[in-house]
Order: sequence, then structure tokens, then C-alpha cells
Amino acid sequence: MILQRNRPICDLRSPVTEKTPSIELALRARIDPARVPAHIAIIMDGNGRWAQQHGENRISGHLNGVRSIREALTAATAIGVKYLTLYAFSTENWNRPQAEVDALMELLVNTISNEIDELHRNGVRLHTIGDTDSLPKGGRTALKKAMDQTAGNDRITLTLALSYSARWDILRMVRSIATDIREGRLSTFAVNEQLIDQRLSTAGLPDPELLIRTSGEQRISNFLLWEIAYAELWFTPVMWPDFRREHLFQAVVDYQQRERRFGLTREQLPNP
Ligand code: IPE
Ligand code: IPE
Ligand code: MG
Repeated sequence: MILQRNRPICDLRSPVTEKTPSIELALRARIDPARVPAHIAIIMDGNGRWAQQHGENRISGHLNGVRSIREALTAATAIGVKYLTLYAFSTENWNRPQAEVDALMELLVNTISNEIDELHRNGVRLHTIGDTDSLPKGGRTALKKAMDQTAGNDRITLTLALSYSARWDILRMVRSIATDIREGRLSTFAVNEQLIDQRLSTAGLPDPELLIRTSGEQRISNFLLWEIAYAELWFTPVMWPDFRREHLFQAVVDYQQRERRFGLTREQLPNP
């Protein structure tokens, strides 16, 4: 084992203490609980650059990113977010140097194995999207066990996008619909947005209202292309290993200040 994490990924019991930084408390107090996004998606980016800035190797950046997952999860749970989806490994990330891919796969197994009991105690349901069949056996086994164990939880659904890309998912969906039409099981007239939603790996998850990307990059990198049609995008220069609860709260505060028009005019909105 080259990677070890012993700290719990998630301690939801006491997210606010007298030691909680005042900036975090102040931001949290500004959040309107009635308008919290049901689903937040995060492109966790910048681990490699964080490591470089600290004179460490890229793998150290990934290790240090685990704490940020805990922070994002506790913050989301504290304000009542029901779905948190994290882009952890893309289809394109398989093309990274083999040592980095191997380390990421090992980190996945270790993190899930170490943290799953804590996640379960805190009511987290673990879910995945992506081509998880392409993960190494250890990863598949750890994920299956964790998903089975937490299947009955409903406080928050934590979805890990693993070996995921939106184009991979869309291609799969198109093939499945085309096959059903060819076999006579489906009429072309039955193909609508709802059917497409049901055939994507995100079936059952509401569309994210808020998409966060760290590291200063302002692109989507093949994440949830169909599902983010009307998501609010929030970019921060913070590298993922430096992401803390206050950043998620800040993103939600900013989200709540935006006017979501969905193609209407301002005057047509219920509370312009
Ligand atoms: C995100 O950080 C983690 C993964 C993509 C697995 P990066 O590893 O992409 O870090 P940068 O973008 O090179 O700094
Ligand atoms: C996107 O980050 C994928 C994940 C966060 C898992 P990348 O670092 O792979 O994206 P690009 O290459 O900068 O677009
Ligand atoms: Mg990156």
C-alpha cells in the first residue's frame, strides 16, 4: 500500500463549533434554507498544481484532496443539499501516466474502505456514474460493497463520477434507444427528454442547479453535458486540496443571488 488515509472522510455530527471560522459561519447564515440547490455537482480540479506549488508530487495533491471531499460533503449536508456529484476520474484521465492512474485507483479503494462506515452512520447513500466496469477489480468490489451497505440511506446521495465522460454516457444512451427502435420495442415518437434522462447514467438524479469548478479553469471537461443545460456555473481559483466548507457556502450564496430565467423575461418570473 503506498497510500493511506486514516482520517474519516465525513463527520456530519458537529459541522459548527466554537472553533468554526467566523467567515464560514457568516456565509452559512446568509444562505436562505428555502432556496438551497437540491443537487450540486463539482469538478474537483487542481490537485496536481496544488502539489507543484507545495513542492510535492502530483499524488500528494490527490491525497490532500480527500479532506476537501469531506469538507464539501459536510457543508452540503449541513445546508440540506440532497445530491452531491463529484467528478473524480474522467474517461480522458485514463491517458495520464500509468503511475498516477494506479495511485488514483488505489486511493479510491483505500478511501472507500476507510470511510464507508462513517458515511453510512451519517446517512450518506453512495452512488456512481461512469464506466465502472473498467475500474480495477479492487475498486469495483469496494464500490459495490459500499453501495450495498448505504443503499437504504436518504440524507444525501453522494455520486462519484468514475471513468465518466458525458459523451461516453450520451453515446451509450443513443445506442440503447437505437437498439430498442430497431428491435421494435420503441417508437421514434416516444423519444423525448424524459426518455433521454432515463437512459443516461444520471437517471434518477435531478439536474444539478449549481456546478462548481475549482482551480481557475473555466471549462466543463466532458462533465454532465446534458444535465447542466440550465445549471448555474461557479468558478473559483482555489485548488481542490484547499477547498473548504466556506467555499461551498460562498458558491450557494452567489447562486442564490442569481436570477434564473429559463428563457423567460424578468417580468414573467414569479418574484421579479
Ligand atoms: C483533479 O486534479 C483530479 C483529477 C483529474 C483526477 P488534477 O490532477 O487534474 O490537477 P491539475 O489540474 O493537474 O492541477
Ligand atoms: C476534469 O479535470 C476531470 C476531473 C476533475 C476528474 P481535468 O484536469 O482532467 O480536465 P482538463 O484536462 O483540465 O480539461
Ligand atoms: Mg486538472
